Amino acid sequence: MPTKKIPVAILGATGLVGQRLVHLLADHPWFEIRALAASDNSVGKKYAEVAKWKLPHPIPESARDLIVQPCEPGMDVALVFSALPSDVAGGIEENFAARGYLVSSNASNHRLDADVPLVIPEVNPDHLDLIRVQRARRQSSGAIVCNPNCSTIHLTLALKPLADAFGLRRVIVTTMQAISGAGYPGVASLDILDNVIPFIGGEETKLEIEPLKILGTLQGDRIVNADVKISAACNRVATWDGHLETVSVELIEKPNIDQLRRVMIQFKSEPQTLGLPTAPAHPIVVRDEVDRPQPRSDRDAERGMASVVGRVRPCNVLDYKFVVLGHNTVRGAAGGTVLNAELLVAKRYVGD
Ligand SMILES: NC(=O)c1ccc[n+]([C@@H]2O[C@H](COP(=O)([O-])OP(=O)(O)OC[C@H]3O[C@@H](n4cnc5c(N)ncnc54)[C@H](OP(=O)(O)O)[C@@H]3O)[C@@H](O)[C@H]2O)c1
Repeated sequence: MPTKKIPVAILGATGLVGQRLVHLLADHPWFEIRALAASDNSVGKKYAEVAKWKLPHPIPESARDLIVQPCEPGMDVALVFSALPSDVAGGIEENFAARGYLVSSNASNHRLDADVPLVIPEVNPDHLDLIRVQRARRQSSGAIVCNPNCSTIHLTLALKPLADAFGLRRVIVTTMQAISGAGYPGVASLDILDNVIPFIGGEETKLEIEPLKILGTLQGDRIVNADVKISAACNRVATWDGHLETVSVELIEKPNIDQLRRVMIQFKSEPQTLGLPTAPAHPIVVRDEVDRPQPRSDRDAERGMASVVGRVRPCNVLDYKFVVLGHNTVRGAAGGTVLNAELLVAKRYVGD
C-alpha cells in the first residue's frame, strides 16, 4: 500500500466508462483524482455541467466542480486512466506515455501491440513485465497497459482455470451484449427497442484474438499466444448493463462435471493474495439455479467485479457448455483498469 495517495487523471471522464472511473476513484484508498479531461466540447466547463451522468449514485462532490481539461500531457499526475473512444485514443495515449506517464487504458488501439501488456490481473499478472520491453523500445519512462474488451474479460476469466487445470483446445461463444457497451448515446432507441442486432463492429475479432494473447506465455521479450481456437458471434440486446455469453469448450483432458465446477469455484489469483482494494473475493461466482446468471440479478456480483457462471452442463458437440455474465462498464472496463492500476502499484511501477 502506498504511504500517500497517488494523483491520477481520467481522460474521457464525461462518458459512460469515464464516469464509472470517477465513481470508483473518488474514495479510492490509494488514488486521488487530480484532473478530468474530455473533448473540446467539455473543456473549460465544470465536470457536473458536462458529464453525461447515468449512474444511480450522485456525482462525487470532489469531482463536481473540477474544470474539465484537454487530453494533453502537462497534468501533475503519475497515472492516467484512459476512457477515450478508439478513434482518438491511440495517439493521445502514445503522447502521454512518451511524456513519462503510466497509462491504464480501456481503448482497443494498443491491445495487440507486441510490447503492450494486455492484462486481467487474475489471469496474466506476469505480462506486466512487458513494460520493461516497451520502455526500452520506445525510449520512455512512461508506458501503456491495456484492459481487454468487455466481453473478452469475462470469457477469459471463466476460461483461465479450465485452461490451467485441463488444457483448452476450442471455444465457441455467443454474446448478448448490453446497450451501455456502445457508449453514450450508443445505439439509437428505434434500432434496439423490441430488437436484437446480430452485429457489433469489430467485436467478434476482438473476442477471437485477445484471449489468445492474455492466455499466452511471456517468453523473454514477447508473448507467445495460447494455442486455442475461438469462434465468436456477437449480438447487441436491449439490456442496460451486463454482457451475457453462452460458451462451449473442448478441453485436452476430460474432467467430470464436478471437477470442472470445482476449479472455477476455487479460482483465486494474485489480486486476492495481494489484497488489492478493488479485487473481488471470488473472481468467478458459480450459480446452481437453472435460470441464472441473468443481467439484472447478477451483474453487480462482487461490486460488479466478478464473472458469474451458471448452467454448467455437458455439450453434445464439444465437451462442456456454460453461461458467463459480467458487468461491462465495471469489471469489463473502469473496474478492470482500476484493478490493473492497483497491480501496477503493488508491483512498484508507480507510487513510493
Ligand atoms: N462502454 C463499455 O461497456 C466499454 C467497455 C470496455 C471498453 N470500452 C471502451 O472505453 C472507451 C470509452 O467508452 P465509453 O463507452 O465510455 O464512450 P463514451 O460514453 O462515448 O465516452 C467517450 C468519452 O471520450 C471523450 N471524447 C470523445 N472524443 C474526444 C476527443 N476527440 N478528444 C478528447 N476526448 C474525447 C468524450 O468527451 P465529451 O463528453 O467531451 O464528448 C467522453 O468523455 C472506448 O474506447 C470503449 O471502446 C467501453
